Amino acid sequence: MTESKVLSSLTLANGVTLPNRLMLAPMCDIGSTPDGQVTQEQVDYLRARAGIGGLIVTGYAFVQPNGSSIPGQLGDSKDSDIDGLRKLATAMKSRGNKAILQICHGGREAAGAAQQGLRVVAPTKMTFPWINYPVEEITTDEITTLISDFGKATQRAIDAGFDGIEIHNCNHDLLQQFFSAYSNHRTDEWGGSLEKRAAFPLAVLKEVRRVIAAANKPDFILGWRISPEEIHGENVGYVVDDMLKETKLVLAEGIDYLNISLTGTQYRFDSKPAGHDQTFAQLFKAITPDTVPVFIGSQVHTPEDAEAALADADGVYLARAALIDPEFTDKLKAGKAEEIVTTMSKDRLNNVQLPKALAYGYTMPHGLQEQIPLPGLTD
Ligand SMILES: Cc1cc2nc3c(=O)[nH]c(=O)nc-3n(C[C@H](O)[C@H](O)[C@H](O)COP(=O)(O)O)c2cc1C
Repeated sequence: MTESKVLSSLTLANGVTLPNRLMLAPMCDIGSTPDGQVTQEQVDYLRARAGIGGLIVTGYAFVQPNGSSIPGQLGDSKDSDIDGLRKLATAMKSRGNKAILQICHGGREAAGAAQQGLRVVAPTKMTFPWINYPVEEITTDEITTLISDFGKATQRAIDAGFDGIEIHNCNHDLLQQFFSAYSNHRTDEWGGSLEKRAAFPLAVLKEVRRVIAAANKPDFILGWRISPEEIHGENVGYVVDDMLKETKLVLAEGIDYLNISLTGTQYRFDSKPAGHDQTFAQLFKAITPDTVPVFIGSQVHTPEDAEAALADADGVYLARAALIDPEFTDKLKAGKAEEIVTTMSKDRLNNVQLPKALAYGYTMPHGLQEQIPLPGLTD
C-alpha cells in the first residue's frame, strides 16, 4: 500500500490526538483472579499488544460483583482493584498509546455472578432460553446505586492512570437490556417508550461525565460502545433506527468517540442492516458530528480490510487479528505488511502472550472456537 489512511492521525472530540486510526478492540481475556483482580498474565498480554493502535481498550470490567459475566473477567468494583488496574494501564501506555478501561454490568448475562451465588438482576424478571439461573427484577434503589457505581468505577480508572473509559452499552449487557423492548417491560420511569428505555444508559453516561468533570480531567476520554441492532429471531429488542435515536440522545450529552460493536460471525465491518442500503458505519456517521470519530470493525484481518473499513468510518478496531498477531501494526508501519500473520495454529496459540485461560478457552470442546472462531485454528 502506498498511502495509509489507517496510519494517519485522528483527533477525538475532547481534542486528544491519536497517532493512528487503529484500536485494540475490547476483549475479555479471562485472565483475572476469581474476584476480578488483575494478574501478571493480563499485564503481559496487553503490554504485548500496546502497539496495536492509538486506542488500547481492555476487556469489559464489571462495576459491581453481581455484574460479572464470566469467571476470569476484569473487575473495577472496589478500591483494592486500583493497584492492579494501575499496572495494567502502565503496560497499555508503554508504547505511547491511550489506555482505555471498558466498564460494564452484565445484568441477566452475569453467569459469573450466578456461579458465586450472587443476586442476578435484569430490567424485568423473565425467562430467557439460554439462561439457567434465577434472574430478579432490579429495584429502583439498586438502579440508583448502580448508576453511582459506574461513576465510582470511572474515578478508579482515573486514579489508576487510565486515559479514558469506554461504556459497554452493547453485547446484550445491562445497558442494552434496558434499551431492549424484548427484555425491558417496566412501567416505571425506566421502561416503556424509547426515551424511557434509553433513560438508564443515559443516566450512566451523565454520571460518568459528572465524575470526569469533577476530577477536572478534560483530556480523559469517554468512549461509548453500541450494538446497533438486537434481533433474536422473532423477538426484536430494537432495530437500527431505534439505536440511531438513542445514539442522538447520547451524542447530545457528549462522548469522545463512538464504537460500533459488530460480532465477528454474524456481521462484517461493511454489513448493512436489513432494509437499508447503507452500512452500519454509514448510518451512524450520518448522525454523528465530525468531531466525534466513529469506529467500526469485525472481520478485519489484513491492512487492506482496515483501509476498506475506513471508507465508511473514522477508526477501525482489531480484535481477533490482534490476538493472532500482536505485531500487526508494527509490521504495517515498517512496510512489512506481508509478514502479518492472519491465521492461528495450536502452537502459535501458546506463543503470542495470551492468558492461559484464553488459550485454553480456544481449544476446549464447545469453547470459544465455536463462538468466535480464530481463522486457522481447526481440530
Ligand atoms: C475473546 C474475545 C473476547 C471479547 N470480549 C469483548 C469485551 O469484553 N467487550 C466487548 O465490547 N467486545 C468483546 N469482544 C468482541 C470484539 O471486541 C469484536 O467486536 C469482535 O471480536 C469482532 O471483531 P473481530 O472480527 O476483529 O474479532 C470479544 C471478542 C473476542 C474474540
